[in-house]
Amino acid sequence: MHRIFDYRSDTVTKPSPAMWEAVKKLTNADLGDDVELEDPTINRLESKCAKLVGKEAALFVTSGTQGNLVSILTQTHPGEEILIEENAHIYKWEVGGAARIGGLVMRTFPSDKGIFGPKNLQSLIHYADDVHEVPTSMICLENTHNYHGGVVLPVELFEKTRKFADKNKLKVHLDGARIFNASVSSGIPVSEYTKYVDSVQFCLSKGLACPVGSIIAGSQEFINKARKVRKMLGGGWRQAGILAAMGLVATEEKWINRLQEDHQNAQLLANGLKEISPNLNINTPQTNIVMFPVPTNINPVKLSQDLKKNGILQHDIGQRLRFVTHYGLSAEDIKESIPIIQKVITEAIKKD
Ligand SMILES: Cc1ncc(COP(=O)(O)O)c(C=O)c1O
Repeated sequence: MHRIFDYRSDTVTKPSPAMWEAVKKLTNADLGDDVELEDPTINRLESKCAKLVGKEAALFVTSGTQGNLVSILTQTHPGEEILIEENAHIYKWEVGGAARIGGLVMRTFPSDKGIFGPKNLQSLIHYADDVHEVPTSMICLENTHNYHGGVVLPVELFEKTRKFADKNKLKVHLDGARIFNASVSSGIPVSEYTKYVDSVQFCLSKGLACPVGSIIAGSQEFINKARKVRKMLGGGWRQAGILAAMGLVATEEKWINRLQEDHQNAQLLANGLKEISPNLNINTPQTNIVMFPVPTNINPVKLSQDLKKNGILQHDIGQRLRFVTHYGLSAEDIKESIPIIQKVITEAIKKD
């Protein structure tokens, strides 16, 4: 039986001891019905998170997918169009909710590993006063960018996107599932990114290691409307302070800064992968995602399965394997797993 190293995602993290302690400390008096705004722990989490991202108000939601969908539905109308990078999570991996539930056209645009020039998108804008066109009403950003290997979008791109959005009367939504990874990596406070967007979603249940939950934030008016959209989607919580208590621990400064360890571990892993062959084009990760480009003569699905058989869980994404570092994997774990990964990949290369 192999030891398991779970690199599939930072969503696999289990709560920290401090999170369990926070839940244990709750009494019945700390719980209430959140649909009635009566759960004090959720209320505390929401006001703390609003401040953390520099917005007026915040809302606790079940997941990143729900947070993105609530944010989009709240700020658009069916029959409109949103602009989104072609490999964005909202477009590729959220079951098309914006189209199916929101009645929106998702218009994709390419990027250079997540980076694009908003000005170049001008020709994509569609107008309400043209009898043929579906009016463009929003642009979505993703930071860090999952598909592009956890890259950090520069803050200048946010500023330019805001200018472009204002010129074209668009809302800007940020899928900031891993915005704290971006901030810890760049040293730029989250609020410096979020000041350019109308709404932001970030995940408590990824690198921050909560078992459940995301936060959306924006103006008070946005959150008032979003609360109703969340209810419509079946996301009204009752005594979910049990979960919010963990969120309060997860958003402590010390815990957010722990993400730096995940980033260092990702570099450790990338260095181990680089040792396999100088011909492999492995980028130094900016955050906690390492993309291994599988040589084109090797079947990535088979390689992924071979690694799994040896206890190395990861995901194949096209011709790449994605490894994510997180709270559940220490530097020692990474060091122990590297020779196993090297052996399996080297064998695959030799066999070919
Ligand atoms: C960039 C990004 N956005 C949104 C999500 C969705 O989060 P959830 O799995 O909580 O729905 C993910 C999940 O991996 C993600 O990577």
